[in-house]
Amino acid sequence: MSEEFAGLRGTVGLVTGAATGIGEGVAQKLHAAGMRLAIADIDGEGLARVAESLGGGDDVRAFTVDVTDGTAVNNCVAEVEDALGPIDGLAHVVGIQRIGAIVDFSEEDFDATFTINVRAAFLVAKAVAARMLPRERGSIVSVASTAARTPRVKQGAYCGSKAAIAQMMKVLGLELAPHNIRVNCVSPGVTDTGMVKRLIDSMGFSEEILKGSLDNFRVGVPMGRLARSEEIADVIAFLLSSRSTYLTMQDIVVDGGGALGA
Ligand SMILES: NC(=O)c1ccc[n+]([C@@H]2O[C@H](COP(=O)([O-])OP(=O)(O)OC[C@H]3O[C@@H](n4cnc5c(N)ncnc54)[C@H](O)[C@@H]3O)[C@@H](O)[C@H]2O)c1
Repeated sequence: MSEEFAGLRGTVGLVTGAATGIGEGVAQKLHAAGMRLAIADIDGEGLARVAESLGGGDDVRAFTVDVTDGTAVNNCVAEVEDALGPIDGLAHVVGIQRIGAIVDFSEEDFDATFTINVRAAFLVAKAVAARMLPRERGSIVSVASTAARTPRVKQGAYCGSKAAIAQMMKVLGLELAPHNIRVNCVSPGVTDTGMVKRLIDSMGFSEEILKGSLDNFRVGVPMGRLARSEEIADVIAFLLSSRSTYLTMQDIVVDGGGALGA
């Protein structure tokens, strides 16, 4: 077992958004650290591929679920605990990004952004927290974004949704702190996944992400490269491990300096 993720072996984790991208990286990291894993996503085929890549054993169970549906989320969490036992750690990674200036942005895109980003974060954290409460143990991590603190053109709904997640998780952390349950966010900077490939395609640029641009992203990435999903997963694994037992109500930015420490 990796020494840096002490305490994870044999514990039960739920990772949402695990069919690709950062969620897939988190699933790989937690599985390597010895967690028994439930991986959840709306993309059943992607989940099957990830489950196979993790060895296809009984220690990984895949759940195809739309995390914006409260009944489906509650059923999924109940099924996870029936199959694997009480959930010790949640990594809620699901999120979408739709691009457009606010004056041009459709109500449909706004609603989709807030439903999939904010409502789902609420539903999943609520369902898992309700089960952790009587047990008085657990760690919850939701993925926000540097967009929660750094304004970006054509990302008004996305920035707003991520700020909502970050603040809502702080309140949940405050409510659960007396019950020995920690709640944190991890905010990645630009990470090399399908979401960023789609962003680059729709904005018609890529160099500006790293170098900075007055017209688009005011700041670039001081470290000069995109993050790898694994680098985000490292921080999530740390927050779920017994090496972070006094750490709660934080939003940890993992962005190669892109938010200039804001
Ligand atoms: N990639 C980045 O640069 C970056 C930066 C900051 C934050 N983030 C955040 O990290 C998270 C993961 O991003 P990513 O780049 O891996 O994205 P991605 O698009 O590669 O993966 C998102 C996953 O969420 C799943 N999903 C979408 N809607 C769902 C629903 N209703 N129910 C269940 N699953 C659903 C998708 O099927 C997909 O597997 C998101 O919350 C994103 O906002 C990403």
